[in-house]
Amino acid sequence: MNTQAFASGLAQTAAAPALRLQNVESAYGPIRAIRGVSLQVGQGQIATVLGSNGAGKSTILKTISGIIDPRKGSIEFEGEDITARDPSLIVQRGLSHVPEGREVFALLSVHDNLMMGAYTRRDRDGVARDLESVYAYFPILRERAAQDAGLLSGGQQQMLSISRALMAAPHMILLDEPSLGLSPLLTREIFEIVVRINRERGTTILLVEQNANMALNVADFGYVLESGRIVMEDTCERLREKDDIKEFYLGMKETGVRGERRWKKKKNWR
Ligand SMILES: Nc1ncnc2c1ncn2[C@@H]1O[C@H](COP(=O)(O)OP(=O)(O)O)[C@@H](O)[C@H]1O
Ligand SMILES: [Mg+2]
Repeated sequence: MNTQAFASGLAQTAAAPALRLQNVESAYGPIRAIRGVSLQVGQGQIATVLGSNGAGKSTILKTISGIIDPRKGSIEFEGEDITARDPSLIVQRGLSHVPEGREVFALLSVHDNLMMGAYTRRDRDGVARDLESVYAYFPILRERAAQDAGLLSGGQQQMLSISRALMAAPHMILLDEPSLGLSPLLTREIFEIVVRINRERGTTILLVEQNANMALNVADFGYVLESGRIVMEDTCERLREKDDIKEFYLGMKETGVRGERRWKKKKNWR
């Protein structure tokens, strides 16, 4: 890490990070999917974890949100230890997860999907206000409010999935590859809204992506994950300038930072 990155690391610490992972290890039976991951996201920041297919990105998010329990390490959210806590408790604390592949309730209406996101809340006025604000971010969802969510396009389902997370009034959102399967145009639209949510509401965001181009443009700080380990971290401004990143994550080189091979050619950056 160079001195500037070190200084920004210190700045993050001084501001008390929203999220801090220390040496987190998670496995599926014998498969150690993440191996000693340490990272932090400053309050109000957008951080990104870049990595190719199978690197362990989704596992990091599932471990944070309590879907899987880590074998080792600790996770702190806003100063509280949330390691292996119940997922519903973690949502109540203000940390929402937008899973990979959207996972909307196909047979429920758009409106009912949104209300599912608010099911733990008792502040009816606040819920009504947040419903209005997600419809303002994504007007198409208001138009489709009465339709079954299963009838929405992929991009609209992604919008719904993000909006459902917002309905829990989170301080922080975990976003799992929002660009997956979407056209460049839709991807850009969705990222614009993600940035607005961050700027307008102060929501802290941890974004995992294969789409390094888009992620490095919107995020402040980035981590590169290969085979379950963080192999590089820096401000996105500096990551964009690094040859390894340019060649492997933004371009055509065959090997990654620590010699990881491309996992699947067709799963490249768009
Ligand atoms: N449910 C599962 N059972 C067994 N292995 C899994 C499961 N989910 C993911 N893995 C494995 O864990 C590793 C990391 O997966 P994942 O976190 O989904 O990566 P990414 O999100 O970066 O594509 C991969 O080797 C993957 O095959
Ligand atoms: Mg994934």
